[in-house]
Amino acid sequence: MQSCDVFLRPCEPTDLEALEAWAPTGNSRTHSVRFARQEAGTSTYYLASCLQSPEAFVGSCEIRWNGCVDPTVPRCPEVNGLQVWPEHLRSHGIGTQMLGLLEHEVTGRGHRVLGLGVDDPRAKALYLRLGYEDTRQDYIDRYTWIDDQHTEHHAAEPCRWMRKDLTGSGSQVDSDLRQVGP
Ligand SMILES: CC(C)(COP(=O)(O)OP(=O)(O)OC[C@H]1O[C@@H](n2cnc3c(N)ncnc32)[C@H](O)[C@@H]1OP(=O)(O)O)[C@@H](O)C(=O)NCCC(=O)NCCS
Repeated sequence: MQSCDVFLRPCEPTDLEALEAWAPTGNSRTHSVRFARQEAGTSTYYLASCLQSPEAFVGSCEIRWNGCVDPTVPRCPEVNGLQVWPEHLRSHGIGTQMLGLLEHEVTGRGHRVLGLGVDDPRAKALYLRLGYEDTRQDYIDRYTWIDDQHTEHHAAEPCRWMRKDLTGSGSQVDSDLRQVGP
């Protein structure tokens, strides 16, 4: 793979058709749903590209500013739906670059903690390497998807909550206690 210097930008309405062609989500219309949350002000849907070919997407991720939907999880912005796509682009450092840039966005808005839920051992190993700590808190990640026959499915997957102190102070605060807006 040729080198890729990743940059992020928020999704725009004109991206939605290209996003669906890049990473199809069928009747779930996931890109549109994420963009709608951005329009509502509760999240930012970040799209990743390489400076070397800025017209192509290589990844996407939503930051949910109000935190995880599960109320048992401590309040702080959440990394949601981080993905590098297509698959052959994985394991070349793009996900690592994306997380670094996302952390920069989050601290830029005055937050001190970033969290994420994980159910995949390889992704968890990556997050641990990047300074996320395993809080040992498990919760159920619930989401809805719609199949080709337009039937709605409700999924519930066990997840482990991880968090990173972005101040670098190693403080053990449980959550991003300050009330900082999106
Ligand atoms: C998880 C995910 C976002 C990570 O992105 P990525 O681009 O593959 O991550 P990175 O390349 O930065 O790091 C992952 C691996 O690449 C290796 N790596 C890092 N930089 C590298 C580089 N410059 N060259 C080659 N390998 C590199 C890392 O050591 C790591 O090794 P591993 O395969 O043993 O885990 C991606 O794999 C993905 O989209 N997975 C499917 C969706 C998913 O599981 N999302 C997470 C939800 S919690």
